Amino acid sequence: MKKVLIGLSLFAALGLQASDSIQVSMKDMRDGLVEVQDGFLYNNKSSILSGIEKITKANSVFHDEKSAASFLPQDKKKFSKIAYISTKNLNLYLETMKNYVDDGSIVNASDAYSGVVRSCTHCHAITRGW
Ligand code: HEC
Repeated sequence: MKKVLIGLSLFAALGLQASDSIQVSMKDMRDGLVEVQDGFLYNNKSSILSGIEKITKANSVFHDEKSAASFLPQDKKKFSKIAYISTKNLNLYLETMKNYVDDGSIVNASDAYSGVVRSCTHCHAITRGW
């Protein structure tokens, strides 16, 4: 009985941790995105760059298909490949945006920003039935 209880509470603790960590990383994704957008709106390059860094860090929890799967609800895990691809695209657009900002090519950077938002949307479409 004791074993079962320990097993159950461990399961609960792990479950809680998984849902906590996705909230934290998605909040960072959102905060980073807001910083990037404000950077474009208020003509502030360092805000764009710091937002890029924040999103990149949050996105680093997705390092393979398996880690992407662990963030998806049970019935959506079969889409983990698409989810992982959206995290890779996200990284590519973030890198492209950073390079353009470093070059002072802000219009191109803002085109890459659209790709960033699209990558977020692709993954959310999986869980939200969009
Ligand atoms: C690999 C998939 C994936 C990617 C990529 C992704 N997200 Fe999410 N996001 C999720 C999941 C799963 C949830 C939780 C379920 C839901 O809300 O659809 C979520 C939820 C959220 C939420 C709501 C959190 C809450 O507390 O309700 C925000 C905000 C968010 N994501 C922001 C972003 C932003 C900004 C990006 C891109 C920079 C992004 N996400 C990219 C998977 C992803």
